[in-house]
Amino acid sequence: MVVKKPPMGWNSWNTFGANIDESLIKETADAMVENGLLDAGYEYLVIDDCWAERQRDKSTGRMVPDHVKFPHGMKAVADYVHSRGLKFGMYSCCGNLTCAGYPGSFDYEFIDAQTFAEWGVDYLKYDYCFRPMTQKGDLLYRRMGLALANCGRDICFSACSWGADQTNEWIKSTGAHLWRSTGDINDSWASVKELALKQYDYLTTNGQGCFNDMDMLIVGMNGKGNVAVSGCTEEEYRTHFSVWAFLGSPLMIGCDVRNMDEATKDILLNKDIIAINQDPAYRQPFACGNHWGHREVPVLAKYLADGDIAIGVFNFVDCQVDPFISLDCLGINRSSGKAISVRDLWTGEDLGVFTDVLRVTVPQHGAKMLRAKVIDA
Ligand code: GLA
Repeated sequence: MVVKKPPMGWNSWNTFGANIDESLIKETADAMVENGLLDAGYEYLVIDDCWAERQRDKSTGRMVPDHVKFPHGMKAVADYVHSRGLKFGMYSCCGNLTCAGYPGSFDYEFIDAQTFAEWGVDYLKYDYCFRPMTQKGDLLYRRMGLALANCGRDICFSACSWGADQTNEWIKSTGAHLWRSTGDINDSWASVKELALKQYDYLTTNGQGCFNDMDMLIVGMNGKGNVAVSGCTEEEYRTHFSVWAFLGSPLMIGCDVRNMDEATKDILLNKDIIAINQDPAYRQPFACGNHWGHREVPVLAKYLADGDIAIGVFNFVDCQVDPFISLDCLGINRSSGKAISVRDLWTGEDLGVFTDVLRVTVPQHGAKMLRAKVIDA
């Protein structure tokens, strides 16, 4: 299986943690369809940790879904999710236990991959807790990668080793389609800033087939749920979504999609921003200078499949900034006779035509997401 674009969907962990069950999953599937999330591209519904009984079945060695949370088993849940047109994801771990202490897949890789395939799983998030210290991470991810590739079903393999043990150096050998390049997110601006700035180190690793995963989105959590801390302002959530989209991270929603407010919907359903994330060329962004050399005001550009240029300015400092972006840096020299016509993707506003330099004003903790068309000057 080859995965060509960063996966999009929803994951249970950020809001619900261990409080998951069949009705939550069915209601979430319904909401994803009814709120237009599926139409916008959010196709995976992923159940994270805490879905299993604490012991495997003694006779078959298989994992068993929690009888109280999932009384009809996982195949029934998968069937419902599929009936709504969505794809179904689950979670396991390369260690003896998952991070929350449920059975992990260590030494059961092939049997678990087979079980997931029989249940109708399309996506497996695979964590890094409780692995025997004698085992190297790359081998453990390769074991599950191979098991999934031979289970008879296309299953997107989402590695979650948080960038530990130089994951970037070996992850592409494992068959993973995405890999967590950060530690865990929490619902705060400090966390968004920390994870976003860390991606500078990994821009060259990202690419088609194996995407850098900056962790699930916190947009719309508003300080409530399993990884809630202080919450963010609407502006900060917009910036968070912009950075994740621009850097090509998977877009996995983490809020309660059954109860989204209008501001949350406006952010998560912005088709122009999603298009930057899902651009078919999937090119690496490049730095186009930063505000007076300030590392916390990245000014990035990315060439899109149709010849347009996406420009992202992200303000992680605590005051307004107004950086310049020179056309020369974008690849347009003065003698070329070319200019750019620029649209603001959050406001929908046409900003006009620029020949030498473009200057943008970005409020504290804000972001500009622009799409520039190359035209004759
Ligand atoms: C780790 C992962 C999280 C989540 C939890 C579940 O911390 O990084 O995303 O899956 O485990 O226990």
